[in-house]
Amino acid sequence: MVKACVCGAAGGIGQPLSLLLKLNPLVTELSLYDVVNALGVAADLSHIASPAQVTGYLPPDNGAEKALKDSDIVIIPAGVPRKPGMTRDDLFINAGICATLAQSIAKACPKAFILVISNPVNSTVPIFAEVLKKAGVYDPKRLLGVSHLDIVRASTFVASVVGKPADAAKYVVPVLGGHSGATILPLLSQSQPSIPSEILNDKEKRDALVNRIQFGGDEVVKAKDGAGSATLSMAQAGAEFAEYVLKAAFGGEKVRTVQAYIDLGADAGGAAVQKEIGADLSFFSVNIQLGPGGVEKILPVGDLDDSEKTLLEAAVKELGPSIEKGVSFQPAPP
Ligand code: NAI
Repeated sequence: MVKACVCGAAGGIGQPLSLLLKLNPLVTELSLYDVVNALGVAADLSHIASPAQVTGYLPPDNGAEKALKDSDIVIIPAGVPRKPGMTRDDLFINAGICATLAQSIAKACPKAFILVISNPVNSTVPIFAEVLKKAGVYDPKRLLGVSHLDIVRASTFVASVVGKPADAAKYVVPVLGGHSGATILPLLSQSQPSIPSEILNDKEKRDALVNRIQFGGDEVVKAKDGAGSATLSMAQAGAEFAEYVLKAAFGGEKVRTVQAYIDLGADAGGAAVQKEIGADLSFFSVNIQLGPGGVEKILPVGDLDDSEKTLLEAAVKELGPSIEKGVSFQPAPP
């Protein structure tokens, strides 16, 4: 019996994400929370013939806490998306929404896995951590910033550049760092299958590929021309990542290594990563192994080539202040 809750379920990401969760056989109860239209989305999804029982909740009468009550996993795409010309940092307006949801989670389902999609992920994940710490229920192994769309994009764009676009799902390219522009650190040298050296050693081609992975979100924001940012690809990435967590926690399955933006204090491997990257950042997107309790192990970053070392420097420089912004955010009291 697994209860999943989506906060922001009526939004551009929330709706298709809720649909994909409704279709996941591991989910038996699906709770949808939003400040608008959650009842409509729930009614619609509830007609699909799959095991998950769907209920929608709006804010009145403690709706958030009712929706979250005893959830095993909470996935959060609540908040405002980007419009053309905005960076993810401009979305710090989502800080208050995240803090309030964290307070409700602390009361209603303190042991849930928390998957944060709301931007700016580099700052919103530290906000969740701080609120949960204050409430005395913080488990860094269960708080995961969802950077999985960067990994999905890397597979797709790499496969396309090597001339095998149909093989996108076969390419595994670790993307570490953060989830915003220069903080996104694609490790092309570690791609499996490997990227041919004529591409890796061609500075122009390589820079273009890195840039596309780092700023792929801008392509969508531009194409949607004011109607929002990535929603469908994010919903797919969010549902896929949620499935990894669910399979590791409740499906008894050992899954492959994944990447997520987490507290490096979650496991002893975090200190080793700080040494590898030469910075004492408290949050970083790292290679992790998932297990029944969430982050089971933080794995090394591994070897970087010179080009990746330069990218790492830039990522670290930008990430530090974003983390600090989240850590020092003062939410309204619950
Ligand atoms: P949207 O505006 O379509 O949907 C957001 C939903 O959140 C709306 O239905 C809204 O009513 C709801 N909401 C607002 N305040 C709320 C609250 N206090 N409690 C519950 N729900 C609330 O936006 P979209 O496109 O779905 O994006 C959502 C977030 O996801 C944005 O912050 C966006 O930047 C982020 N995002 C993250 C990505 C990632 O890779 N992590 C990729 C793409 C978007």
